[in-house]
Amino acid sequence: VSEPSWRALSRSGDQVDVERCGDGPMLVRHADVIVDGSGKEHEVARPVVAVCTCEKSQRFPWCDNTHKAIRHR
Ligand code: FES
Repeated sequence: VSEPSWRALSRSGDQVDVERCGDGPMLVRHADVIVDGSGKEHEVARPVVAVCTCEKSQRFPWCDNTHKAIRHR
């Protein structure tokens, strides 16, 4: 699996935990912002967010479960 094109950052300098969730998204904890491949910042509003790794989500960088359709294609 290739590396995701985004980065998860914490403004307070906390350790950001990233854990792959099967062959779907990365579960990101303690992040304040996701910076996507084009440098755009996406505020993180929840303690844990599922961030897309397949790059096909309609709500990128958030996983919208499109990866399941891709896998079964
Ligand atoms: S990883 Fe779930 S939509 Fe991309």
